[in-house]
Order: sequence, then C-alpha cells, then structure tokens
Amino acid sequence: MNDLLLRAARGEQVERPPVWLMRQAGRILPQYRALRGKLSGFKELVETPELACEVTIQPVDELNVDAAIIFSDILVVPEVMGLSYEMIPGKGPMFPMTIQQGSDVDNLLSGEQAAVQLDYVYKAIELTKQELAGRVPLIGFAGAPWTVMAYMLEGSGSKTFSKARRFLYRQPIASRVLLQKITDTTIAYLKKQVKAGADLIQIFDSWAGILGPEQYAEFSLPYIRQICEAITEVPVTVFAKNAWFALDAVGQLDCDVVGIDWNTNPAEARSRVGASKTLQGNLDPCLLYAEPETIQQATRDMIEGFGHQQYIVNLGHGVYPDTPLDNVKVFVNEVLSYSS
Ligand code: CP3
Repeated sequence: MNDLLLRAARGEQVERPPVWLMRQAGRILPQYRALRGKLSGFKELVETPELACEVTIQPVDELNVDAAIIFSDILVVPEVMGLSYEMIPGKGPMFPMTIQQGSDVDNLLSGEQAAVQLDYVYKAIELTKQELAGRVPLIGFAGAPWTVMAYMLEGSGSKTFSKARRFLYRQPIASRVLLQKITDTTIAYLKKQVKAGADLIQIFDSWAGILGPEQYAEFSLPYIRQICEAITEVPVTVFAKNAWFALDAVGQLDCDVVGIDWNTNPAEARSRVGASKTLQGNLDPCLLYAEPETIQQATRDMIEGFGHQQYIVNLGHGVYPDTPLDNVKVFVNEVLSYSS
C-alpha cells in the first residue's frame, strides 16, 4: 500500500513528498478522450460506476501519481437538491433552472434525502477501492457551499459571478438558508463517500477569491468549518482558491491539509497557515507548457520552498486539458525521483 499521501496529510514522516494533480483524470489523457468519445456525454461517465472507476484509475496507471481522485463533479450536489446541470461540450456547465428569489430556496431538498440519490458516486468509490487494491489512496471530494451556491444562482460559469454576489447583499437570510441546506447535504454526502471507502476528502472552494474578506468570513468559512468538524474519520483538505486573504482563518479550521494556489509563495503560505497543517500545491498550471528543464527546476524549487515534510506536491489549480502529457510526466517524475 502506497500511503504517502495519508502520512503526509497527517503530518507523519515521509521519504519524499507525495504527488498528484487536480483534474488528473480527464482530457490530458488519450485513454480518457478515447472513452469519452464513445459516450453520450460527461454525465454518462459520471453516473456509470464502472466507467467512473476506469477513468479514475487511468492517471494512476499512466502517470504513477500517489493518489486517485474519484471521477465526478461538484455539480452533482445541486442536482440532487433539485437543480439539474448539463455539461455543454467546449463551454462547461449550464443549469436550465437557477435560484431566482428567496422562495426558490424553500423547495430544495437537503441532507440525507438529497445525499441518498448519489448512489452512483458511492458505488464508483466502492468499485475503485476494489480495483486499486491498496495501490494508492482514493480522494473523495465536494464543492464548498459558497462555490456550489454560486453555480445555483449564476447557472453557469461567469467572469464576475455578480448574480451570486448580488444575492448575498439582497437576500442575506435566504443566502444563509441556502448555504446551510448545501452544507447539510454535503456533510451527508461526504460521510457516505467515506463509508464507501474514500481515504481523504478535499473541499474545493473554487470561487472563494471573488468574495471580500468580510463576506468570506460570513458566507463561506462557517459552512466549511461545519464540514471539517463533521468529517472526523479521514483527513480533510480545504482548497480555497485565490483566498490568500483568508489563509490565516483557513489555517484555524479543523482540517489537516490546506491547498495553496500559485498566487501565494511557499514561505508566505507557511507563515499565514501556521505550523500545524500540511500544505498542498502550488505550481502554476501554465508552467507545464514550459521546457522540461524549466519544469524540473521549478518543481525542485517548489519542494525546497515548502519543505519535503508536511507537504503534498500538486498544481495551484486543475491541469489544463491541452497540457502536453509528456510535460505532466516530467513534473510527476521529478517528484518521484526526489531525494532530500
Ligand atoms: O481528476 C479530477 O480532478 C476528478 C474529477 C473532477 C471533475 N470536476 C471532472 C470534470 C473534479 C475534482 C471536478 C471538480 C470541479 N468541477 C470543480 C472544482 C475544481 C476546480 O476546477 O476549480 C468545479 C468548479 C467544477 C465545475 C465544472 N465541471 C466546470 C467549470 C467544468 C467545465 C470546465 C472544464 O474543465 O471543462 C466542468 C467539467 C468537467 N469536470 C470536466 C471534467 C473532466 C470536463 C468535461 C469533459 O470531459 O468534457
């Protein structure tokens, strides 16, 4: 059993830092594109446990990374609460129905009632654990309540997420009710992921950075805190993208690992987060378009910057789909061959 990821997450001694990439399962891999091309769409992949299992393991076989992350999406949560999503090729997610007013929030399902509908995810986790047979740990995940709420209001990606931010100002009470419903669903969902076999849980707050510090403290952190306090069985990673202003507060959460994006350098991340957490990150995904020597040097510098204990090597956000596979391998191999 390669348990480097779990040991690093718990702050135990490791021979070298573990490495995996956010969005490692996906279009960077030819075997993913081949399978995806035969299917009706993204949702068929997500909702068929055998297929989700297959693409979850592809990067472990191809790249030799130290972790698998279950193939799914953060948008399955709003779907079981009552707002289904579509994945438009080349464009991204789209919600035919969105939250327009406060009363729309009352009609949403939450907690167990919503989470039981995600049986296909739990089956995919069970199957993947069986197939991995201990080769590497399996990461489960969910979106942070604020990030999920942003999609439920906006209905798609957005440059400004102004509909979502407007709602916080105009409907603060409904905002809190909605965030609590998403939180209750997410806790039930993650507990079932752990029961199915997830070895570590990552919370993605991808849109953390569009909130100001006060709003982040009011509308995001308290809900992430509830999730961290509820998931006691396995290590938890919190990745609040672009929320450098909140790194001190994230460092106070009851989590084990803090994800860092490339806007914060390793020394500053360590001093803001404090000594007790493991850090994960933070190579600029665009660095993987550089020459191999540049990638190798930057990877070594990054490891020296973070230190090789209490550290998990990753990018500062998901790998871009058109990244040359050979460059991804240069990055991973540099870590696999690292010795302090
Ligand atoms: O390897 C992995 O990381 C596991 C799978 C995974 C996906 N989505 C699959 C996916 C994970 C962890 C996610 C999380 C996710 N989904 C986040 C948080 C992480 C982040 O990137 O900030 C967010 C914001 C989403 C919502 C989402 N899903 C968007 C905005 C898009 C479109 C952009 C894109 O990358 O195409 C998706 C689609 C999506 N989710 C794809 C994959 C592999 C591409 C779909 C395809 O195959 O065409």
